[in-house]
Amino acid sequence: MTHFTFFPRAPALLMLAAGFGLTGSALADDLAVAQKLATKHCAVCHTFDKGGPPGQGPNLFGLLGRKAASESNFTYSDGYAKAMSGKVWDEQMLDAWLTDAQGVAPGSAMVYSQGDPAKRQKIITYIKSLQ
Ligand code: HEC
Repeated sequence: MTHFTFFPRAPALLMLAAGFGLTGSALADDLAVAQKLATKHCAVCHTFDKGGPPGQGPNLFGLLGRKAASESNFTYSDGYAKAMSGKVWDEQMLDAWLTDAQGVAPGSAMVYSQGDPAKRQKIITYIKSLQ
């Protein structure tokens, strides 16, 4: 008998929950996939956490909007520092960098080339989330 009292409300509540659940978990899934990819491709040399230590490359937290070659606890190569002087990281520059790092900054100590635009986009999505 008791469940008749609640039954009329149940469908609406369920739909609401499903709606929120779908959006939230789809985004979380996307980001989890993106994080996995970035970790696989970049974490040997970079940390992503706020204030994380430099590795072979500089920490990448808050990269977008930051001046290139500006991490004070990392010593950039001369080639990189020269090529990137005055530039500020945005999505387009990051996409170009991941497509061909040496093409963007010849002589840079980072040698990386990702030919798959979908993979680059995922890595960019993850880095964008680090604010
Ligand atoms: C084998 C090591 C290595 C890997 C792997 C690597 N990097 Fe780097 N990265 C470096 C080094 C070294 C530098 C510094 C370049 C220089 O000084 O010439 C750098 C610099 C950078 C910069 C410039 C940051 C700044 O402060 O101007 C970005 C952005 C970057 N890497 C992103 C990535 C991303 C994203 C990945 C993964 C897709 C990645 N790197 C993979 C070694 C690496």
